[in-house]
Amino acid sequence: MSNKHLNLGIFGFGCVGQGLHKVLQNTKGIRASIQKICIKHPHKDRPISQSYFTTNPEDILLNKDIDIVVELTDDAEAAYQIVTTALRQGKAVVTANKKLVAEHLEELYELQQTYNTPLLYEGACCASIPIIRNLEEYYDNDLLSSVEGIFNGSTNYILSQMRQEGKSFVQALSEAQEKGFAETDPTLDIGAYDPKYKLCITLLHAFGIFTKPEEIFNYGITQLNEQDISYAQQQGKTIKLLVHTKKEAAKITGLVLPTFVDAQHPLANVENEFNGILVESAFTDHQFFLGKGAGSTPTGSAVLSDISALTYNYSYEYKKLHQNTEAYYSQDQLLEVYVRYQTPLDIDLNDFQCILQRFESAEYNYLVGEINLKQLYKPAWRKNPNISIVLNKVLVNANQTTIQTQVLEEALAV
Ligand code: HSE
Repeated sequence: MSNKHLNLGIFGFGCVGQGLHKVLQNTKGIRASIQKICIKHPHKDRPISQSYFTTNPEDILLNKDIDIVVELTDDAEAAYQIVTTALRQGKAVVTANKKLVAEHLEELYELQQTYNTPLLYEGACCASIPIIRNLEEYYDNDLLSSVEGIFNGSTNYILSQMRQEGKSFVQALSEAQEKGFAETDPTLDIGAYDPKYKLCITLLHAFGIFTKPEEIFNYGITQLNEQDISYAQQQGKTIKLLVHTKKEAAKITGLVLPTFVDAQHPLANVENEFNGILVESAFTDHQFFLGKGAGSTPTGSAVLSDISALTYNYSYEYKKLHQNTEAYYSQDQLLEVYVRYQTPLDIDLNDFQCILQRFESAEYNYLVGEINLKQLYKPAWRKNPNISIVLNKVLVNANQTTIQTQVLEEALAV
């Protein structure tokens, strides 16, 4: 494709599509321009000439003049059809749709190999932070041991606004929607599905494993209340919705949970729609990435960066996939968690390895204990509206931890 001016066919002209248009207009030197934009609703008022728009996908997918299909819809099902058809047509594709990529990652990888056509998706993971290309290229020869961070701008915005400005959850969510940070269905944000999709993508580029979103534990921020926030403050901590993934030998674990973060921790000061990613590897120790994780032009910039990469024939090589043939995903991970509950009937203490702290009063009940992640997959934990779970820390050596029966018995007797 190099040395050629590239014609873009875009699907979707919402928040990210308009961001891309703006960024493209202000970027001199990029050898690409928009040819057609396929949209669902032809009668909406739009800021650019109607001549760009079509409602017929074939005007892009079967158009020989279009070199790159840019998929920016909010509909993962439609996106699947668009992206797979385009790859089969031999057209390079850029997408920012994390749900689509996460749910079909293995198939999308295979299609790229079969049709020798690239698919890039930097905009799907933490918007303006170039984490995929860094994991793919920079950490190629390093021994990555963990990737941890804030992978969702909307929930980080909500938590910042609740804590710093005293806003209600509902008000902060509504602002995140107005500012174009939240998904069309904000359950994907507040239920921690969106960061889980980003984690699936990260697991492939960091550790070379394919995972299905349903294999990964996610717990959102809807259960948090003022008691949890003030408990965090009393401990000198703040609550952030964090993605955690780590590698111990061939075993890879990953989860998304609201987490207590020390005030001195680099992620504690990542506020509003910013995302932050802490990468740990054997020879570099920690490295920290910070940038806007949601919004029109930050995501548009990431999409443009992929388009630009295609002008010099870049494609993901999926190097870790070929290097880490032994690596496997595991749900076996010991965690230290705080659980607030309405009545003792809401929690099964037998699920804990040990209880470290327990407090009960007329208005507020909580405990802190060690529990295996596997237990939290049970609906009694995951879907219980009467409890709130916040992670204290991911513990090491799950297999070697002995059950501290005595402490557990004492807690049962409270
Ligand atoms: N809804 C997403 C977020 C958009 O809030 O992070 C960027 O992926």
